[in-house]
Amino acid sequence: MKREIAVIGMIACIAVGLVIGFFIPGLLAPTEGKPLLNKIKDRGYFIVGTSADYPPFENVSYPSAEIVGFDIDIAEMIADEIGVNLEMTDIGFDSLIGACRAGTIDMIAAAMTYTTDREKQLAASVTYITVRQVVVVKSDSVLTDIDELEDLIGQDVGCQGGTVMEEELVNATITPTAYDRVDLLLQDLYLGAIDAAYIDGPIFDAYQVLFDLKIIFSSDPEPLSLWCRKYEPELMHVINEVILEAFQDGTMLELWDKWFNATG
Ligand code: ARG
Repeated sequence: MKREIAVIGMIACIAVGLVIGFFIPGLLAPTEGKPLLNKIKDRGYFIVGTSADYPPFENVSYPSAEIVGFDIDIAEMIADEIGVNLEMTDIGFDSLIGACRAGTIDMIAAAMTYTTDREKQLAASVTYITVRQVVVVKSDSVLTDIDELEDLIGQDVGCQGGTVMEEELVNATITPTAYDRVDLLLQDLYLGAIDAAYIDGPIFDAYQVLFDLKIIFSSDPEPLSLWCRKYEPELMHVINEVILEAFQDGTMLELWDKWFNATG
């Protein structure tokens, strides 16, 4: 009797094992078809989305109307490594994650800060730069240095929609005016429509002279990532390899020299 139970037990285990074994490959391969990297190679160009209102990371150059910047130089290096051309597309910052998830763009290069929330939706590259976030006001503003964002309660504060700045301001119980584009945000600050703007440090350097600004708050440095669809390890491997190699061979330092000065 004991022996029969053992045999039945063994058969049951094998059956369960076979059923699980049958389903596991499906569980491990959530995307179907070719890897995105192969599709990019077949297509012949790499589609990278950005919000080109953020010099020196990304900006539309005048008069050529080309999108240029630190992020674009890195995207170019990745396109070169894949062996295809780079095609930059300029869409609202708030729409970038949706576009990347939907496959309209292959990668986001938009000074996008690493957050665990974003990583639930997309895959993040290794850190390619860290930057401080700053609250800026007009040089002649009565507002002076603050210790924390909560000190801005009662002021009209602006930021770009969909950014970590918006999230942090909301967490500090401030309802910010959210702008689609950072150039319009800073223009409104200049015109006096808002009292303060919350942006990334290097953007202050780029716009400071134009809009006559000063910094009244600076965060700790935050890491930025490039982003692509989840479960595309072949593409993410190339992205990370290009970043790490640029750190190793000094190209990254050259790019920082080319695009940034002190504040970054
Ligand atoms: N670093 C901020 C964030 O990730 C803002 C980035 C805005 N980028 C841009 N290209 N406008 O939320």
